[in-house]
Amino acid sequence: MERLICLAIGYVCGLLQTGYIVGAMSHVDIRKKGSGNAGTTNALRVLGWKAGILTFAGDVIKCVVAFLIVFFLFRGSACRPLLTLYAGAGVTLGHNFPFYLNFKGGKGIAVMAGLVAVNSFWHLPASLLLIPITLACFLIPVVMTRYISVGSLAAYTVFLIEMIIIGQMGWFDMDAAHCYELYAVLGLLTLLAWYRHKANLKRLAAGTENKFGSKKKE
Ligand code: G3P
Repeated sequence: MERLICLAIGYVCGLLQTGYIVGAMSHVDIRKKGSGNAGTTNALRVLGWKAGILTFAGDVIKCVVAFLIVFFLFRGSACRPLLTLYAGAGVTLGHNFPFYLNFKGGKGIAVMAGLVAVNSFWHLPASLLLIPITLACFLIPVVMTRYISVGSLAAYTVFLIEMIIIGQMGWFDMDAAHCYELYAVLGLLTLLAWYRHKANLKRLAAGTENKFGSKKKE
């Protein structure tokens, strides 16, 4: 039941479609332009830097808000890191599949950045390493290839590995069963991120993926 409540809290927070709202403010349905993704990359591509930064900030903040609600609501729980991850999963589902936009939202990458930020506080100061390592795993592929999708998937996958390492080091202060459940939930989110990038993967294979900084549209 606790898990469902956390998922629901996250889903409601995730419904705040920052990219869509920022686009609507400029009379643009971002889901009909560029890659069709209602996320930071497409906001940046279609609407420019300011819109990209606003979209990213909004998508990270909704993840932080869901985390904080669950963090304080379940402060007596022995598995808070797991429950807050359920909230993060809910945010991802609300962000990717908003019911009021025909379930057509983003790909969950800025939300993942929010997850990285909040999960870096479980075992200070060592866990803060999550942020620079994940960021590097995003930036290095992007700088090398200019494909944001490649950096996004690399960072998401490395985040999963980092969380497994953190769990195995005992930094979540949870029992083993809850840690394994956390890995499974995050593993599913990682698979979902790959699935949501299926069009990007097809374009990468065909050599037609949009490059960062290029004006080319899908
Ligand atoms: O933020 C998602 C990114 O990895 C890909 O976005 O718009 O190029 O499909 P896009």
